[in-house]
Amino acid sequence: QKIVLAYSGGLDTSVLVRILGEEYGYDVIACHVDVGEARDKDLVIARAKKAGAVAVEVAAAQDEFARDFCFPALQANAMYEGIYPLSAALSRPLISKHLVAAARKHGATAVAHGSTGKGNDQVRFDLAVKGLAPDLKIVAPQRERNITRDAAIEYAAKHDIEIPATKKSPFSVDENLWGRSIEGGVLEDPNQEPPEEAFAWTKSWKDAPNEPAYLEIGFEAGKPVSVNGQAMGPAALIHEVGRVAGENGVGRIDLMENRVVGIKSRELYECPAAVVLIAAHKDLERFTTLGMSHRVKAMLDTKFAELIYEGFWFSPYRDALQAFNDAHDRTVTGTVRVRLFKGHCQVVGRKSENGIYNHALSTYGVDDAFDHRAAEGFIKLVGLQLQEYSRLHSEK
Ligand code: ARG
Ligand code: SIN
Repeated sequence: QKIVLAYSGGLDTSVLVRILGEEYGYDVIACHVDVGEARDKDLVIARAKKAGAVAVEVAAAQDEFARDFCFPALQANAMYEGIYPLSAALSRPLISKHLVAAARKHGATAVAHGSTGKGNDQVRFDLAVKGLAPDLKIVAPQRERNITRDAAIEYAAKHDIEIPATKKSPFSVDENLWGRSIEGGVLEDPNQEPPEEAFAWTKSWKDAPNEPAYLEIGFEAGKPVSVNGQAMGPAALIHEVGRVAGENGVGRIDLMENRVVGIKSRELYECPAAVVLIAAHKDLERFTTLGMSHRVKAMLDTKFAELIYEGFWFSPYRDALQAFNDAHDRTVTGTVRVRLFKGHCQVVGRKSENGIYNHALSTYGVDDAFDHRAAEGFIKLVGLQLQEYSRLHSEK
């Protein structure tokens, strides 16, 4: 029997290659999906083979991740609990998609992942696989056996599995194009201010430049296509926005988070690109869409963020909300100018052929074209019931 394992290249999933082979009796195909983590491809393949994988699949998926996952999330202005752009949550359905593809290619009957039983990631992997390939069995040894980090190190030493030479981080980190999550260690005290060493992509406001930086982001139908006038592919664009935002200390997030499994945990993120792009997209939506649909969308956006968090990416529910967003975003074309300064991100200008704003209507100046007297009749009708109610009930 063959199984496809989501393989990060780190210690834990290397140990899982061996455990799935020797203790579960599978032929293990390691599947590594590049979503923007800095990993050496050849090293990952060699490490998986050494751990005992019969085959290794490596998917270069950065543009796919940006285009098919980050951008739809951006269209939904997706922020879980109002502030987390869902970086880790978005990568799990993408990885699952590649696991399923590899399973089909190799004729595997099962897929495996290294998530624990107390996190969100297990839910996302499992639900994505159920949504795409309900026939595949899902194996999660970490959830079944609760293998501690020390046990994994001991197992690796005993079984001659290479232990990656990365310097031991005091935190548990997950990263991809859309952001970086940092958990554990001293952060488990909710009242402890995050130490500088927790951050890797964003500067502290103290070290950020003393002059603001400006980004002009171009959108077409709700999707970003250029930065400062230069057309860019999806992954390159996210990299570039993230680089400038991080340089200016933008994108740090500290969240007392409600996990799917009921645990409240303290989570730290740095999502420089996502924070800037969502601010810009929201602004252009306000400028170019009807107020009434924008208000409905704001409610649906909350639901979209929740469905990503809870693992329902591959579902008719997401498809339906996506269709709404695509229709709503048809006019969201134009540019937004954002100022970045010492941790702050502020939209300071926008331009669009679809801007519903009409100067002649909104001005208080001499070229005012608004029919002031029309307001009188409008208020008469809008206030009709209130007036009748008050006529009956107010004290004379
Ligand atoms: N709590 C965050 C989320 O649910 C971060 C998960 C990070 N995953 C990890 N394996 N370190 O999206
Ligand atoms: C895990 O426990 O596998 C990572 C944390 C999370 O999924 O929230």
